[in-house]
Amino acid sequence: MKEIQKLVDEAIEEINLAKNSTTLNNIRVKYLGKKGLVTSLMKKLKELPQEERPKFGALVNDAKNTIQAKINDKFQEISALEKMQKYEKLAVDISLPGARKDIGHLHILSQVQKELEDIFISMGFEVVEGPEVEDTWHNFDALNTPDWHPARDVQDSFYFTEEKLLRTHTSPVQVRTMLKRKPPLAIVSPGRVYRRDYDSTHLPMFTQMEVLYIDQNVTIKHLKFTLEEMAKRIFGENSKVRLRPSFFPFTEPSYEIDVWFGDTWLEILGAGMVDPNVFKNVGYDPTKWSGFAFGLGLERVAMVKYGIKDIRDFIRNDIKFLENY
Ligand code: PHE
Repeated sequence: MKEIQKLVDEAIEEINLAKNSTTLNNIRVKYLGKKGLVTSLMKKLKELPQEERPKFGALVNDAKNTIQAKINDKFQEISALEKMQKYEKLAVDISLPGARKDIGHLHILSQVQKELEDIFISMGFEVVEGPEVEDTWHNFDALNTPDWHPARDVQDSFYFTEEKLLRTHTSPVQVRTMLKRKPPLAIVSPGRVYRRDYDSTHLPMFTQMEVLYIDQNVTIKHLKFTLEEMAKRIFGENSKVRLRPSFFPFTEPSYEIDVWFGDTWLEILGAGMVDPNVFKNVGYDPTKWSGFAFGLGLERVAMVKYGIKDIRDFIRNDIKFLENY
């Protein structure tokens, strides 16, 4: 009897100390398994005198039940604990800062383009687009620049065939819009243009915005007002605009426009009053309609506004440069 009690005590102590289900299972095997300590006590039954056998058998059975019950209790306890530990490992710490995503922002040129679009839209202009692959008629002839004209050489471009080229300016969109619609017209047209140039102030691909306003009795005053308004909105209240005589085949008279910014005059665009020949080419009556047009270099505007020295920075895709704007 003492031996049995000792075995039960030992088993209970081991069970109490068990820290996980594997240990607990080993304890079960040690005591209650086929070759376990309690199981082997049963084998001693035969060695006992007949009359002691029932009592001994009952004691061993009790011991077995006690140990089994204790193991069951402990198992419940341990598996609850193990479950907790497992969930704790899986749990997300919602107090941790999340993985940061770099959101990025619009390219400086897109920003300038949108800013200008907004300015013109607020003045009643509409944004239209035209193709980058043009034909020579829209790019030159309709704009009063026949093929013998020296102005064609100045805007030398990339030709696909004799008559197809990458547009050298956004002015052909003037022609396309006038052909499609009836005056009055107030449009702006941003987009890429191409020329065979490459240095610190010229790119073979750059961005322009064409502005065209057509109505009756449009004069240089309207042109100058629009330019001044635009300059004030994009470069600030203190900016000034200066018109210098120039030449474009599709405007008469023509101007180079400078803006006063910081402490100097900076050339940012070409402008003029729409040449009567352009009106004739698109079937508008030049005695009835008049208008102004100008073409703005967006890189130039951004360079003036932000003090950028090298036009090639716009296309280098250098994050350090782009992050500044
Ligand atoms: N298309 C001209 C250029 O690219 C600019 C311009 C546009 C001039 C409209 C006058 C009127 O140089």
